[in-house]
Amino acid sequence: MSDPGPQVHGTQGGGDVVPSEPTRRNVLSGIAAAGTVVGAGGYAVTRVVGYLNPPSRRREREIFLAFVDAIPPGGTLAATLPDGRHLQVRRSGEEFAAFSDVCPHLGCRVHWNAPSPDENDPAKREGWFRCPCHEGWFTPDGKAFSGPPSEAGQSLSRVDLVRRGSSLYVRYEEDMA
Ligand code: FES
Repeated sequence: MSDPGPQVHGTQGGGDVVPSEPTRRNVLSGIAAAGTVVGAGGYAVTRVVGYLNPPSRRREREIFLAFVDAIPPGGTLAATLPDGRHLQVRRSGEEFAAFSDVCPHLGCRVHWNAPSPDENDPAKREGWFRCPCHEGWFTPDGKAFSGPPSEAGQSLSRVDLVRRGSSLYVRYEEDMA
């Protein structure tokens, strides 16, 4: 009786195709191939995303604003940042806060009104920011309490302020050269 020889899988020429049992080697090489495809795809996606959204080249630093004694208690100091933004730095006792002076309603500039202890409106006794365009009024903490900004629940935008000894600094983010 003759030896039938090795079984041939997937013969050409019309022979029967006998499905092969997956061997450990076939499975491992299939996983490796799939991993290569997924890895290459992930790399390509990363490159495209990096091209469309390059890493930020911005840095934060502190800019000297003023000595604390330059701001009278209950008063404010106007300051301008290197990028042209205007700030109002307010002092209440030994507390300091800085706000953008851009009204959140339609962008007019707000001004500080000094405290008036005789004022009937309690909200004004501490002083208030006023926008002259549509009579938008804000508390010393920048919260709107009258006019269109109040109706829309808008507040003045606060800017990070740092006190070091007798000096005030503002945190400022800028593009790196
Ligand atoms: S722009 Fe300030 S209240 Fe309208």
